[in-house]
Amino acid sequence: QKDGFRFFMEKEIYEQSDVVGDCMLGRLNDEEILFDEIDKSLIEGINEIKICACGTSYHSGLTASYLFERLSKVKCNVEIASEFRYKDPLLTKDTLFIVISQSGETADTLEALKMAKAAGLKSLVVCNVDNSSMTRTADATILTRAGIEKGVASTKAFTTQTVVLWMLALYFGKAKNVLQSDKLQNELKALREVPKSLIIDDKIHEKTKRLSKRYLHGHGFFFIGRDVFFPLALEGALKLKEISYLHAEGYPAGEMKHGPIALADPELFTIALMPENLLYDKIKSNVEELSARDSTICSISPLKFDLSDDFIKTKKTDHYMLEFFEMLIALQLLSMEISVRLGNDVDMPRNLAKSVTVE
Ligand code: F6R
Repeated sequence: QKDGFRFFMEKEIYEQSDVVGDCMLGRLNDEEILFDEIDKSLIEGINEIKICACGTSYHSGLTASYLFERLSKVKCNVEIASEFRYKDPLLTKDTLFIVISQSGETADTLEALKMAKAAGLKSLVVCNVDNSSMTRTADATILTRAGIEKGVASTKAFTTQTVVLWMLALYFGKAKNVLQSDKLQNELKALREVPKSLIIDDKIHEKTKRLSKRYLHGHGFFFIGRDVFFPLALEGALKLKEISYLHAEGYPAGEMKHGPIALADPELFTIALMPENLLYDKIKSNVEELSARDSTICSISPLKFDLSDDFIKTKKTDHYMLEFFEMLIALQLLSMEISVRLGNDVDMPRNLAKSVTVE
């Protein structure tokens, strides 16, 4: 069942290129995004989007919030479902409520969805499991088509969620007439290249294996990035925590100087996400600050950065979202290889369950 891979997680990391292809099948043509699942009435009169989810699904939601505001010009905010439920949220009927869930069964996300429905909001679930509690509850469902995900640490579910949400941002932008046609063309072209960007280069896998020898000794890890690379940093840190049991935090790179940089020393490992196509100079200066304070730096980037102690080279592309997916692969492999060296159970990490149906 593992098809020659050592772990289900490894198989699922390698499957991402194919499942993303399935996820996009029939959903984009030369000019636009098509979602048969969505009735036009679902987005009519919508001025705001609220996203709710937990864990890794929350990270794809946070990524989407940047894309919705940038590409659809719709105000978008994201909340962790277990916080949203108990804060007496103010909900207005011009808000589309989107929940994201691999399983469709996460208790807090499901209850958040029920609350939004009870308040009269239109709702949509981005989900990997058809006929789950959430798909039965929401007004509309977009399935991510990732196939069964067995590894407890989510990989391909996140990737397909992010692709669906990116497509949804374009769908909205087109429907609202806020996306110039050349901009849309450019985005569609990049989307079509996602499966290719997820094909795993042996060199990257080898590099993460080599790095894992030293990185398993890290006392603490900061994963840093800006814009959509901030949620990606959160996701990289979560993967490391889950399967390696090492302390890791994801941080917006610009926030380091507001406190966390006090932790910098050679035993602090900084994993810096440095995309060429988005705010490169800004992240570079954040990494320079950390390097000057002796943090050990591993940069993930298509560009070599002189102050890095280690470097994972990603391919050159012309769209930051393609860099996003390439870096995601590097982060997934790095946490898996560290976990392997530590002798942990990669597919069934301690204390975790695949589906969290308790509150
Ligand atoms: C992380 C992970 C969890 C889930 C979270 C939500 O690798 O798997 O953080 O993402 O429990 O689960 P779903 O997406 O099923 O609602």
